[in-house]
Amino acid sequence: MVKLIGNYKINCAVFISGRGTNLKSIYEYSKIKKSNISLKLVISNKSNTLGIDFARKYKIKTQVVRYKNKNEAEKKIIKCLKKNNIKLICLAGFMKILSKNFIKRFKYNIINIHPSLLPKYKGLNTHDRAIKNKDKYSGCTVHYVSEKLDSGKIIVQKKVKVLKSDTPQSLSKRILIAENKLYPIAIRKVLSKN
Ligand code: GRF
Repeated sequence: MVKLIGNYKINCAVFISGRGTNLKSIYEYSKIKKSNISLKLVISNKSNTLGIDFARKYKIKTQVVRYKNKNEAEKKIIKCLKKNNIKLICLAGFMKILSKNFIKRFKYNIINIHPSLLPKYKGLNTHDRAIKNKDKYSGCTVHYVSEKLDSGKIIVQKKVKVLKSDTPQSLSKRILIAENKLYPIAIRKVLSKN
């Protein structure tokens, strides 16, 4: 992981594909006095999203990268990361899978948030699966990104109770609130370990 030196802030990029509530929580965290990151860049594979609107409103640099060809898209992203001296990547609802090369090249300084208690329910439709399996708890996880999808080392998790009356939508709403609180905690944890 990247090293924190003194009061120096780590340059961070957030990758999104949509709504951007986790982006918002990372941005708000970056603005508090004791935060150890500076949010320099938002990468999105889609334009016209709430996340991009948010970044523009708060004057965070944005780069929309079309994914017609993964290799080309990643080259463009790497160029942009270098230009902005990015040391930490936070994936927040980014719906593209990064290549092994990209992950290696970025020396594993990539973290992701996932809406389940990993290792349970990797991939999509996590809330649906938790409800169908009658789980008492679900929740969210922030983990390091490794070559295997949703399988990197776990940094932090937050449990959320599944109610009898829950639909995937209602459960997802409560888990999202937990996610937004958890992401800054995870960032602080990974950076303070160094
Ligand atoms: C979150 O539920 C996150 O766990 C998942 O995608 C969603 C992104 O939400 N990977 P938002 O764009 O941050 O609001």
